[in-house]
Amino acid sequence: MGQVLSVLDLQRVYEVKRSVFSVQKEMINALNGVSLELDRGKTIGIVGESGSGKSTLARCILLLERPDSGTILFMGRDLLSITREELKTLRKQMQIIFQDPYSSLNPRKKVFDAIAEPLLFHRMVDKKEAKDRVIEILKDVGLDESFVNKYPHEMSGGQRQRVAIGRSLTTEPALIIADEPVSSLDVSIQSQIVNLFLDIKDRADIAMLFVSHDLNVVRFISDEIMVMYRGRVVETGTKDEVFLNPLHPYTKMLINAAKGKFFKKEGEDFFDKDRGCSYYARCEERKDSCCDSVPRLTGSKEHMTACFRES
Ligand SMILES: Nc1ncnc2c1ncn2[C@@H]1O[C@H](COP(=O)(O)OP(=O)(O)O)[C@@H](O)[C@H]1O
Ligand SMILES: [Mg+2]
Repeated sequence: MGQVLSVLDLQRVYEVKRSVFSVQKEMINALNGVSLELDRGKTIGIVGESGSGKSTLARCILLLERPDSGTILFMGRDLLSITREELKTLRKQMQIIFQDPYSSLNPRKKVFDAIAEPLLFHRMVDKKEAKDRVIEILKDVGLDESFVNKYPHEMSGGQRQRVAIGRSLTTEPALIIADEPVSSLDVSIQSQIVNLFLDIKDRADIAMLFVSHDLNVVRFISDEIMVMYRGRVVETGTKDEVFLNPLHPYTKMLINAAKGKFFKKEGEDFFDKDRGCSYYARCEERKDSCCDSVPRLTGSKEHMTACFRES
């Protein structure tokens, strides 16, 4: 047991031009006060439509970019105030897996080098031991010895993602952040890779943040679910609570959409950042007063939502 990650009130604002021709700048609150807590061996599934801030959250936690404010505690250390040296050692313990393994694997490197490189760099093995360890890791991700000499282009998408997962396991991380790791794969391959993630999480007691816009995938792999909408957490709780008893109208809509039910997506233009619930325009259960202030996350540890209908 033990807490691996604790994120408190993370904020990240992007300043973007309104259009190519415009000098006017617009502020986008990609993360607007996001908090979460993650224990060893647990997986939080992060869901939300495109643009809700999921990838920004992943990048900020890994310090691939700096949040504007907030706190990130990883293994009890405050990532935003430690030295570069300390960060370097801690980095070993956190890994990211992207949607497209083609972009995370060097096309000119054989599988052996892709996996041996971090092993040697972090001195987890010496040169003599490297080959055996690489083969062991390949086995762990469901690939046989013959893959050591393959290049990325000689493999299928699923095989490449297995190699990327294997590479991320080399440093024995405490945390893996997977950002849409199966979204670019064929549906038939998706479940194999999701099962591999499940297997790894159980075997190595790794904490995981699993980002996906696909609720069926998230449901399968997560212990807890966090639903994001426009930079905010609108609902969070145990998997069963969120799926069986969804409280936020947005979560209900996502669940219905995943079941193949038709839903309307309208009112996108209304977005008053400073005032009111950001889901107001699309909400099927809104009241006039939902415009007056921003709903806060309330509820129990097992289930919280940010909706005035529930508070
Ligand atoms: N580097 C960036 N510069 C400007 N805006 C960005 C940048 N990255 C993300 N955004 C904006 O931040 C919001 C959240 O994006 P993102 O985190 O990629 O969402 P998701 O991963 O949920 O699709 C979007 O409105 C997106 O356009
Ligand atoms: Mg994304």
